[in-house]
Amino acid sequence: MKFSDRAMNVEPSATVKVSNTAKAMIRKGIDVINLGIGEPDFTTPQLIADAAIKAIKSGKTSFYTPASGLPQLKEAIAERIKKDYGVIYPIDQISVTNGAKMALYVLMQALVDPGVEVLLPRPSWVSYKQQVLLAGGKPVIVETGDDFKITTDGLDDAVNHNTKVLVINSPQNPTGTIYSKEELEAIGNWAVLHNVILIADDIYGKLVYNQNQFYSLVQINDRIAASTILVNGVSKAYSMTGWRIGYVAGAPELISKVNSILSHTTGNPATVSQYAAIAALESDQSEVETMRQAFEQRLNTIYPLVEKIPGFKLRAKPEGAFYLFPDVSAAIQLAGVQSSGELVDRLLQEAHVAVVDGAAFGMPGYLRMSYATSLEDLSTAVERITAFMNQFLEKQVSGGIGIETD
Ligand SMILES: Cc1ncc(COP(=O)(O)O)c(C=O)c1O
Repeated sequence: MKFSDRAMNVEPSATVKVSNTAKAMIRKGIDVINLGIGEPDFTTPQLIADAAIKAIKSGKTSFYTPASGLPQLKEAIAERIKKDYGVIYPIDQISVTNGAKMALYVLMQALVDPGVEVLLPRPSWVSYKQQVLLAGGKPVIVETGDDFKITTDGLDDAVNHNTKVLVINSPQNPTGTIYSKEELEAIGNWAVLHNVILIADDIYGKLVYNQNQFYSLVQINDRIAASTILVNGVSKAYSMTGWRIGYVAGAPELISKVNSILSHTTGNPATVSQYAAIAALESDQSEVETMRQAFEQRLNTIYPLVEKIPGFKLRAKPEGAFYLFPDVSAAIQLAGVQSSGELVDRLLQEAHVAVVDGAAFGMPGYLRMSYATSLEDLSTAVERITAFMNQFLEKQVSGGIGIETD
């Protein structure tokens, strides 16, 4: 069978792959701790599940909805955006998708032609690059500074007459970095000046810790908001990854194109999930706050422990999302492996802890560790990784070789 160039070139999602391997090992009875997956460990709050059950019992969920989602859900989304951001989107400017992942995919399909360049920060989430390639476009990497953030200098280096889109994800996967209001203003003004469309992936916007402040690009000013397409969803904040509800908010003409593509691809997201999402968005958000606090506690507990793992170095404390992204170049040297990918494999096979290779996010030499799991599992995982690294340290001490391992 001969496959399309598209299919030949697409890389499987590294995060999904590592997680599947970990799950397969768990099924075989191996006690693996999975820090590879980007999903909260909490079950969906009861009030959301109850709304879904009620919708099923009423018979409403047996049927198709408009491909772009129920008007009632779009209203709930518009109301949530208004409450959270103070920005108003009429419902013809909103489209509901099968997760934020599909929202981003359909946007690339709607905006990108062959030769069109899309600016992506390094590091950034695994799927952006593949989605640009699937649309025939060219992903162009914008280098970040020590704080993992892009600046207008980096953007100046990357822009040319083919540049059309810039993706900003704050809080950022895999680093947990949050852009300040001033930084967003500078990036937004740059985009307006260069006629570049901004995609604001705000999927972690409610998961912000330790008094840090999150702003969306759409909140900065009207000109920047007009150049920005907002992407969000219920997966991370409401512990609803399995329900697959995301959304896009943007100009009516864009949404109309998005809707046409959706009408030929996914059709509507599962009707039952849409009713669940209405309950999530219209709820008093106290469940979100409870889960946010749990993540914050995990971050504050785990961060100092990960810092002490031999060969692991954290550049800065994450401010949001639920990932740590340590530089493991010293650990690679210490363990005598060739790459972060090899270190990831050995951690899984020998220490039974699943993490993701930083290379998947454009940064080999780093690992992504999710802390969206129980404190108990997190402590055990860190103990296992520490023990795994210590064996090399001990060998070096007995061999008399010194190494910098902070
Ligand atoms: C940065 C980022 N954007 C979008 C998504 C997609 O989320 P979902 O499709 O579950 O809504 C993820 C999920 O891992 C993510 O990390």
